Formats: sequence, C-alpha cells, structure tokens
Amino acid sequence: MMIDLIDLAESHLAVTYRWVSGPSVRDGLLVNRKISAEEHRAWFAKLANDSSQRVFAALADGCHIGNFGYRNLLPGHGTGELWMFIGPEFQGRRMGFPMLNRGLEMGFGTLKLRKVLLNVDTANARALLLYARAGFRVEGLLHAEQIYQDRPVDLLRMALMADAFVGLKRMLDVGRPETGPDEFPSDTSS
Ligand SMILES: CC(C)(COP(=O)(O)OP(=O)(O)OC[C@H]1O[C@@H](n2cnc3c(N)ncnc32)[C@H](O)[C@@H]1OP(=O)(O)O)[C@@H](O)C(=O)NCCC(=O)NCCS
Repeated sequence: MMIDLIDLAESHLAVTYRWVSGPSVRDGLLVNRKISAEEHRAWFAKLANDSSQRVFAALADGCHIGNFGYRNLLPGHGTGELWMFIGPEFQGRRMGFPMLNRGLEMGFGTLKLRKVLLNVDTANARALLLYARAGFRVEGLLHAEQIYQDRPVDLLRMALMADAFVGLKRMLDVGRPETGPDEFPSDTSS
C-alpha cells in the first residue's frame, strides 16, 4: 500500500468536512461541537499563512482516504504535535500504520522535527495500538484534560524521538525480503 501526503487543497475540502462532521472522526479527535461549513472554509483559508501547522491529504494509490497534520510546530525546539484520521469508509483496512509511517517520514524528514508528540484519548484503542506499534512512548497521563460530550476525558501524552524512528525503520528494513545482506544496517544495537 503506497501512501502519499500532499498539501490539503480546495478540492479536498468537501469530503474533509463530511468526515469531520461524522461521529467516528469527531470521537477520535474529540471535536466537541459541530463545525459549520463556513468555519471549515475559514480554517482552510488561514492554513496557508499559519507556519505553526501543516495539513496534508493522505492518498492511497491516488485515492484520498484521510488527513494527516502537525500543529503547534515549534521550529526552535524541533517539536510538533501529530493528528490524523482516516475517513470512516476507509477505516479497518490496515491503512493506519502506513499512513502514520509516511507522516513520520514527513515530520522527521522534510519538517526536520526532533520530537513528535501527541495526545490521545485513553479509550481510543485503535489509535493507541497504532502509536505503540510505531514506537511512541507514553510520557504521562493527563487526567480529565478535556471535556467531550459533557464528560471529562483522560489523555495519554505520547512521543517519538527522531533517532528512535530511524532505529525502528532500520529494524523493519532488515525484515524485508528484498533487502540484501549488503544493505543491512551496520549498527543494529539502536
Ligand atoms: C485511528 C485510525 C487512524 C486507525 O485507522 P483504522 O483504519 O481504523 O485502523 P487500521 O485498520 O489501520 O487498524 C489499526 C489497528 O487497530 C486494530 N483494530 C481495528 N479495529 C479495532 C477495534 N475496534 N478495537 C481495537 N483495535 C482495532 C487493527 O487490528 C489494527 O491492528 P493490527 O494491524 O495489529 O491488527 C482511525 O480509526 C481513525 O481515523 N479514527 C478516528 C480519528 C482518530 O481516532 N484519530 C487518532 C486521534 S489521536
């Protein structure tokens, strides 16, 4: 499965609005209120001039399946906060991991991040599984940090450092059948 991330464009807005208005994505991202179509367009219009954010459309073999973003980008610290979602009609097809992987390549590569962090609802089993598999470590429990649908929600603060991501990629590459012995990383201790 090839996932590409491209800058979110006008042509991605209608389906994005449908996705963020539905319960699956709202529950996952803890969007506590209904967003109007006008607010959605205004959010998009501001993105181009907002250096603290990057938002991408994720394409699987050319088909727009969801969005991936970084917010709170702090270049001086090399940190950024990741968020992602897959449209409900594309969920459950194991595209979460390749999409996350592509987003991390973008974060640690193009955006030159040192540390990627995120906050995830402790009840969001699918997301927790994905992040743990990608090597994210729990940095703390944020007790009753947000209100969602009139109830307090506990969040896990998780993070992945650039060197841990590189180490994990190396290990995954070792397992690939097409990888020849000459291409094995010389240092497998990390
Ligand atoms: C989180 C999200 C991106 C995962 O993508 P997905 O397409 O649903 O999940 P995938 O098919 O890639 O599966 C991811 C893992 O979760 C597991 N999983 C699937 N359904 C599950 C369920 N109901 N409960 C627990 N685990 C589940 C899968 O088995 C898979 O693990 P595996 O590959 O080891 O078997 C997607 O559910 C989503 O967009 N949710 C709404 C927004 C959100 O929560 N974003 C994250 C906020 S921090």
